[in-house]
Amino acid sequence: MNKQHNCDVLIIGSGAAGLSLALHLSKNADVVVLSKSRVNAGSTYYAQGGVAAVFDENDNIDSHVADTLVAGAGLCDEDVVRYTAENAKECMEWLIGQGVNFDKEESTNTDIKYHLTREGGHSHRRILHSADATGKAIQTTLVDQIKNNNRIRLFERYNAIDLITKTNEGKKSECIGAYIWNRNTEKVESIAAQKIILATGGASKVYQYTSNPDVASGDGIAMAWRAGCRVANMEFNQFHPTCLFHAEAGTFLLTEALRGEGALLRRPDGSRFMPSFDERAELAPRDIVARAIDYEMKRLGADCMYLDISHRPDDFIKQHFPTIYQKILKLGIDITKQPIPIVPAAHYTCGGVMIDKQGKTDLNNLYAIGEVAYTGLHGANRLASNSLLECLVFARGAAQDIEATLKREVKYFALPAWDDSRVTDSDEEVVIQHNWHELRLFMWDYVGIVRTTKRLERALHRVELLQREIDEYYQNFRVSNNLLELRNLVQVAELIIKSAMERKESRGLHYTLDYPELSNKIKTTVLTPIQVI
Ligand code: FAD
Ligand code: SIN
Repeated sequence: MNKQHNCDVLIIGSGAAGLSLALHLSKNADVVVLSKSRVNAGSTYYAQGGVAAVFDENDNIDSHVADTLVAGAGLCDEDVVRYTAENAKECMEWLIGQGVNFDKEESTNTDIKYHLTREGGHSHRRILHSADATGKAIQTTLVDQIKNNNRIRLFERYNAIDLITKTNEGKKSECIGAYIWNRNTEKVESIAAQKIILATGGASKVYQYTSNPDVASGDGIAMAWRAGCRVANMEFNQFHPTCLFHAEAGTFLLTEALRGEGALLRRPDGSRFMPSFDERAELAPRDIVARAIDYEMKRLGADCMYLDISHRPDDFIKQHFPTIYQKILKLGIDITKQPIPIVPAAHYTCGGVMIDKQGKTDLNNLYAIGEVAYTGLHGANRLASNSLLECLVFARGAAQDIEATLKREVKYFALPAWDDSRVTDSDEEVVIQHNWHELRLFMWDYVGIVRTTKRLERALHRVELLQREIDEYYQNFRVSNNLLELRNLVQVAELIIKSAMERKESRGLHYTLDYPELSNKIKTTVLTPIQVI
């Protein structure tokens, strides 16, 4: 019999979304936060540019809404966009109240004026930031708060494997808990909760090249799908235009704020190319910039393009981009004097588990917030720095609904036991390694920045083969982190490919040579699992 834990609220994921929800709820509930790796391992910690919110007196909500709608290429839900923009300032003030230090202009003690930077697609300076390491400031502050809160238990190194649901005659099914794998003991346990929240982040690790940390394997999307929830707009994976291209560097993003502060994109011969692609040049939305870079690289057969901020004063660069300056200097490139080699890489999952403004999914008592969710905010392309904002706004919305519906006296369900009586230790670890690489490579080659129907068909064929192999493997061998993530990645890959095949046009982040035009039919892609809820 496996061990069962109980709590009021189970939050799966310890990034900006999960941690802020935990803090909102901890006055009135016993909360467990589950984190499959170290607590700081998610994307939040690595965020650089900042968080978008209207703070400047010359800026306004309508303008934030309009910029988001333009970037989203006709597919945003305007009501959700306005809701998010209108709630941005209060959510940021809550974050500042938790202790996050955002950069300020010279200001007096009574009148604080934040330094606002600019990023592509924003018509005003509206990005609050902590130099070029905003995510670290947010994540570490929230973690400090969590660790000092005795109503919140943090389960580190615990993977959620699958959600546990209960069908109720004549009613929607409900989520009652989850199976979790304790990486410390290598045992499967279970956890029952009144409310379960997916805050597991995105799925960009499905691509060979990504700006994301290792944990971004789409677990929440795959778990929700298997449990019977709809997902939407999975074809819109955002590729960040500027990730460092260097053999010794690993994954490293070069924030869009560099371009916001004047950095220019150049070909290997030093000439600029963005003005011939878009009148906004380097400050065009990301899909346009990433495609232009991809186009120039393929046209010239070049390994990379270059990002150049060396024309700005040295002190300015070192003050605003200290992390980037130091990191790249260690590789022998002084960004105050030299251009930086860059390539695009998978960065953000715009689609996800369908939710409403309170974060509610198709299953009773199951919520999803943050990058795992599809809210309607981003449409066909996310505007820079709207993601951390979405985490905060939807965490607050979910907290309000959970507080209003949480029962005070409950008897927890005795969860069905995890059956591993028929599995053995794997003797074929190579299968996982091989499938892992194959999947990410064909997703990059066939389902990347530029797609065709033929490439998508090829990818689907391969995904179906891999899925059969991985399912069989999962039935026969004990779970491991790599196996769990691979099972989820292959599921997410299928959802991305099927969504891309449904879209017979090019819009935002989905660009296909077979349908290069924008259709006049505006449609969100919704996939529904076979099981009926
Ligand atoms: P994450 O912060 O990714 O956290 C997910 C958590 O879930 C992690 O703790 C992970 O370990 C856990 N988890 C996942 N699966 C499981 C499982 N099965 N069981 C248990 N735990 C699990 N956005 C902006 O708005 N502004 C920026 O400046 C910005 N810069 C970025 C820079 C980089 C390099 C990257 C990668 C992203 C950036 N983004 C930015 C995007 C933004 O950081 C993310 O969208 C956001 O942080 C997502 O927060 P989250 O809480 O949803 O997920
Ligand atoms: C960046 O700093 O360029 C990333 C911003 C974002 O992804 O919103």
